Amino acid sequence: MTATTLVILGASGDLTQRLLMPALYRLHTLGLTPDLRIVGYAKEQWSREYFERHIHKALQAFAPDFKPAHWNRFRRQLDYVGGELQADQVAALKSKLSPATMFYLALPPPLFGVAANALGEAGFSKNPRGGWRRLVVEKPFGTDLASAMALREQMHTYWEEEQILRIDHFLGKETTQNLMVFRFANRFLEPIWNAQHVSQVQITYAETLGVEQRAAYYDKAGALRDMLQNHLMQLFSLAAMEPPSSWDAEVLRDHKVEVLRSVVPITAKTVDQHAVRGQYRAGKLGRKKLIGYRSEPGVKRGSDTETFAALRLEVDNWRWRGVPFYLRSGKRLASNYSEIAVQFREVPGPIPHAVHAGNNWMIFRIRPVEQMDLLVTAKQPGVKLAGRPVTLTAAYATPDDREFSAYEQLLMDALGGDRSNFLRFDEVEWAWKVLTPVLKAWEKGTPDFYPSGSEGPETQARLLDPEHHWRSIALDGDG
Ligand code: BG6
Repeated sequence: MTATTLVILGASGDLTQRLLMPALYRLHTLGLTPDLRIVGYAKEQWSREYFERHIHKALQAFAPDFKPAHWNRFRRQLDYVGGELQADQVAALKSKLSPATMFYLALPPPLFGVAANALGEAGFSKNPRGGWRRLVVEKPFGTDLASAMALREQMHTYWEEEQILRIDHFLGKETTQNLMVFRFANRFLEPIWNAQHVSQVQITYAETLGVEQRAAYYDKAGALRDMLQNHLMQLFSLAAMEPPSSWDAEVLRDHKVEVLRSVVPITAKTVDQHAVRGQYRAGKLGRKKLIGYRSEPGVKRGSDTETFAALRLEVDNWRWRGVPFYLRSGKRLASNYSEIAVQFREVPGPIPHAVHAGNNWMIFRIRPVEQMDLLVTAKQPGVKLAGRPVTLTAAYATPDDREFSAYEQLLMDALGGDRSNFLRFDEVEWAWKVLTPVLKAWEKGTPDFYPSGSEGPETQARLLDPEHHWRSIALDGDG
């Protein structure tokens, strides 16, 4: 591998310390990035040595398996340049770049466009002969359709779409990728993965965390922008897409966009049938007493920002017409429970002596553990012909497997030039399009309150077909 340079803009920030550097360090310890040079860039006028000490501390705190021996080799990969996000200042990076260079914008979103332009103006966006330039952009990409389009225009002043890698860290999660592998590599699933056999799909990402120290961002964003528009819409499009003809990044992304384009449009009139928002009040998690969202430090008094959002999406195509996809995510819920759950229709019968224990479910669990569960009915041992529910579980990883964190996975993909796990602009655009009427409607009014530590607002039930119910997020529950 020829030498590659990774320039991190925003190198003094939280993301660099908590996620990027630990991921880069692990890749280094595994010998996967032997010729990578990492150049930090931030407004602080630090020396290289100071940056090294800063990263050393960060790794001690955040790298799960920190070892001094590895550090002594890793530190030699590090370099630093201080400066503002202006062309004449980023130009100081010039001597540090290799023919293969990737810029990573680990910056607050309002600076994405500014940084992309500063790099472009400094002449860094042009692919050099025999090499390449890439630009990795963190989320969120815009705060609505109009701002996403404007940001795209701004970034395209100097950068081509093929050079831009938009991160959604859910695409680096093992279960997300397994959704594709399991669906398309097993013969038995595909023939029943459609409206004839599937009755509903539920995608849940429940968190016990509250807003924490992020009120400045979160109070403006809310759950719909923070979790649904990006992460859950990605899980949804992967679960619903058609089998692609190849695993080429463009083919894959075409298929995902096709799902978003097929969503029955939500209109101003139908918002309440398709979307529910909630906000956590004070409550309890176990014995711990928790304050309500509006009392959290940094949250605007009387804020109407939603900390819970649920959607009912319908896909109008041959495969899915008539199958509701329910998506929901919230803060301060009863548990850290996340899954993609597919319910199959009831068997037509007759069932021997009423042994039936309910519908089958195929569940891809993300948290608390990554595993697959298939809920089936099997005979209850004994003289009677009776059935009982049984769960066939496949632990996702065996003890011998080497798992990668989402950032490790995505950094490897980005350095290797694989764009499949990054968002193409039209994916972002369509996700915003689907949600624009909801965002508009939610500019007014108040979310439905739910106690911290609960399953979310009761009103979420109004999104469901009468025969459906939300799966429980209680950790011992199977829904
Ligand atoms: C982030 C959101 O994108 O995803 C957070 O901004 C959320 O609010 C997080 O907590 C959840 O992802 P993970 O991988 O940390 O569970």
